Amino acid sequence: MSDRYAVVGNPVAHSRSPSIHAQFAAQTGQDLVYERLLAPLDGFVATVEAFRASGGRGLNVTVPFKLEAFAFAQRRTARATMAGAVNTLRFDADGVFGDNTDGIGLVRDITVRLGQGLGDASVLLLGAGGAARGVLQPLLDAGVRALTVANRTVSRAEDLARLAGDARVRACGFDLPADAQARVRAGLPERFDLIVNATSAGLDDAAPAIPAALYPTARLCYDMVYGARPTAFMTAAAAAGCAATADGLGMLVEQAAESFLLWRGVRPVTEPVYRRLRAELAGH
Ligand code: ATR
Repeated sequence: MSDRYAVVGNPVAHSRSPSIHAQFAAQTGQDLVYERLLAPLDGFVATVEAFRASGGRGLNVTVPFKLEAFAFAQRRTARATMAGAVNTLRFDADGVFGDNTDGIGLVRDITVRLGQGLGDASVLLLGAGGAARGVLQPLLDAGVRALTVANRTVSRAEDLARLAGDARVRACGFDLPADAQARVRAGLPERFDLIVNATSAGLDDAAPAIPAALYPTARLCYDMVYGARPTAFMTAAAAAGCAATADGLGMLVEQAAESFLLWRGVRPVTEPVYRRLRAELAGH
C-alpha cells in the first residue's frame, strides 16, 4: 500500500498541496498518496490521531491549526520553536516530529529561484503576526546583515524583535523615515535591499502604508501571498520604481519541497511545478 500523507485544515478545499505533492511524487518515483483532510474547528487532534492510526505517515498543517500542531508535536525543530507554529508533522516510530518549512521556503525562493543573495542583505520585514514570525529565524540564518521589523502596531514589532534575541533585529512603525540619513539617525539601516510583505493588508487589497520612496531602493519586493494578479503591495512597489517584485507562489512550492524532503529524504525539483502552478493560476 502507498504511504499516506495529507494537508489538514479548515477550510482545506482550496489547498494546492495535493497537486504539488502528486507532482513531486511522480517526478521522484516515490510511492505515496496525498489527500485533503478537513478537520472540525474543535477537532484537530482527533482528526490527526485518526489519520495516524489508519497508517498516515505525515501531514501538512494549514489555517487555523498551526499552533495546535505545534503543541501536538513531541519533538520540534529550532525553526518551528522560533515560529511558534508547525506546518509539517511526521509520524515517527518514537513520536510526532514537527517542523516549520515556511521560512526556509521563502529563503530558498529568494536565493535559488530568484537568484537574490541574502548574505549581508538589509531586509525590511513588514508585519509582526504569525506569518512574519514564521520567517524571522530562517532569514537570520541566511546571514542577513540587518533585519528591520516594521508593523502597523509598533509594540508587536518590538515584541517580535525581542523574541528574536538577535542584535541584527530592529523594530519600527510604518512611519519610518524615507530619508537614509534620517533613518541612520533613528538607529535604522541606511538602505533596504529587500522588502518582504508578511502583513495581511492584501486581504483588503491594500499595500502596507510605508513611504513609497523606500521601494525603488530595494533589489526585490516580495509579497508572501499570491494570486492570479500582482498583489497591491507588488503594484505599489512597481509603481514607485522597484526593479523586481515577486509574489508568494514560489514560497508555497518551496515550503512543500522542504516538507517532502523531511518525509521522504529526497529533494524534488521545484521549477516545473512552479511553472505549472503559475500557468494554472493565470487560467491556462
Ligand atoms: P498572519 O498569521 O497572517 O501573520 P496575524 O497574526 O493576524 O496574521 O497578523 C496580521 C499582520 O498583518 C499583522 O502584522 C497586522 O498588523 P497589526 O499587528 O498592526 O494588526 C498586519 N495587518 C493586517 N491588516 C493590515 C492592514 N490593513 N495594513 C497594514 N497591516 C495590516
